[in-house]
Amino acid sequence: MPSPEANPLRAGLVDERLPEPCSIVIFGASGDLTKRKLIPALYTLAVEGLLAPSMAIVGFARKDSSDEAFRAEMKEACQKFARHRPLDEAVWETFAKGLFYQVGDYDDAASYQKLKARLAEIDLARGINGNRVFYLSTPPSNFPVTIAQLGAAGLVSRDGQKPFRRVIIEKPFGTDLATARQLNRDVLKVLDEASVYRIDHYLGKETVQNLMVLRFANGLFEPLWNSRYVDHVQITGAESLGIEGRGGYFEQAGILRDMVQNHLFQVLAITAMEPPVSMASDDLRDEKVKVLKALRPIPEGRFDEFVVRGQYREGTIAGRRQISYQDEPGVTKGSKRESYVAMKIFIDNWRWAGVPFYLRSAKAMPKKVTEVALVFREAPLRLFGERASQGQSPNVLAIRIQPDEGVSLRFGAKVPGNTMEIQPVNMEFRYGTSFGSEPPEAYERLLLDCMLGDQALFTRGDEVEASWKWVSRIHQAWDASTGDVESYEAGTWGPAEGDRLLLRDGHRWRRP
Ligand SMILES: NC(=O)c1ccc[n+]([C@@H]2O[C@H](COP(=O)([O-])OP(=O)(O)OC[C@H]3O[C@@H](n4cnc5c(N)ncnc54)[C@H](OP(=O)(O)O)[C@@H]3O)[C@@H](O)[C@H]2O)c1
Repeated sequence: MPSPEANPLRAGLVDERLPEPCSIVIFGASGDLTKRKLIPALYTLAVEGLLAPSMAIVGFARKDSSDEAFRAEMKEACQKFARHRPLDEAVWETFAKGLFYQVGDYDDAASYQKLKARLAEIDLARGINGNRVFYLSTPPSNFPVTIAQLGAAGLVSRDGQKPFRRVIIEKPFGTDLATARQLNRDVLKVLDEASVYRIDHYLGKETVQNLMVLRFANGLFEPLWNSRYVDHVQITGAESLGIEGRGGYFEQAGILRDMVQNHLFQVLAITAMEPPVSMASDDLRDEKVKVLKALRPIPEGRFDEFVVRGQYREGTIAGRRQISYQDEPGVTKGSKRESYVAMKIFIDNWRWAGVPFYLRSAKAMPKKVTEVALVFREAPLRLFGERASQGQSPNVLAIRIQPDEGVSLRFGAKVPGNTMEIQPVNMEFRYGTSFGSEPPEAYERLLLDCMLGDQALFTRGDEVEASWKWVSRIHQAWDASTGDVESYEAGTWGPAEGDRLLLRDGHRWRRP
């Protein structure tokens, strides 16, 4: 890749992405996310020249620590987790001067007054004009109290004026429709929607953004992107690991809350939405909300026809033994919590009428993969005869979101020789080989967008509620059901019932 300096057009694009100096306060800064993702992402932005050198980052948590200790800990974290390694000592030195730590309690008004005074001090010393981003990176039970205290301390307000005051809220945003609505009410008591940045880190993934580029920057695909040509759509979000000792969390969440309501529904919305009138935040989010509102509710009493839940038992994944879900630490014996879910969804709008969207997500699958696949209708006539077409399969456009990011197009080709035989072949685009560089981490993009005031890749309040509205009915049906969860062997693609969901319609899951 040419450096930005060598390519004036690119250099211009970088300049456009330079945010104004601000202070970022991270609540829950003693936690895992700060260490693994947030600080390494901010450091990477500094390496790429996308942070003002006067920026400040203030870690806030109950754990006792100091500026010096926090800097040392974060240096180690960046050495381990930042995208650009080894660490650039010169960049680190400047970056570390802007790192601070503030001990405080999330529900203690005096802690916020101290924070306010500290921020004023830092502003003065570093020449920041009061711009602030507050990042809520604590467990979600702390979100309401933190937001209320930020409001009470006058650290945020609803006027949306300059200097900017923005709040990033980590996932999960609620655990059902009622809790999501309540959290939205809590948030909007002290902030206007334009200052709220609800994170779904999938939206920060390069390939999810490329899904929009593929659709709307090319003339080729969009004419085919509808019920006339698409037979069905498959969206897969598979993990090859089990729940990794996180029984306490997973027993509450399950894969439907952990993956589907947020990440896969975002992928679904971007796959299915109409072209927005512009890429401005609300234009884009309006279109996603329309898709979520058009999801056909599953008819009462017929959930089993549309949704399959499963739980892994012992098995082998890529040569590694995986214990059963029931034996995982923190799991209640006899738990029906789903580690697999598959569902059939219809979108009742003009573009997608009658086209099933099949979604599945699971732990303990044979491999880690997230992809969207559009499976196209067959050509109207088998012109080459039944025998020639025996090996043929439908055209598929598959967008791999992770890993091995890229796009593949499967179509039929003539097998070389003097007979007429058709076999499927693939045309491949791979990020790695085409651009020779790794895609950035989702958190880099999202933190930068927030500093720039671009909400396009953050979920809006009505969007979160629309997805919970649809998903919560499944939880209610499961809670009321006496039916069992299907069992599947770890290291397989899920229970037979999940396969039958598609087989009943004459389809098969892809084996990505
Ligand atoms: N880790 C990830 O990869 C990841 C991915 C996606 C989303 N998230 C979300 O991001 C947020 C932060 O994740 P994390 O992994 O950093 O969480 P974490 O380590 O469990 O918590 C972060 C910090 O929150 C503080 N905290 C406040 N109240 C707490 C409570 N009741 N129990 C435990 N800690 C409490 C703790 O700091 P003090 O006690 O020092 O105040 C803790 O160090 C969560 O909302 C999580 O759902 C995380």
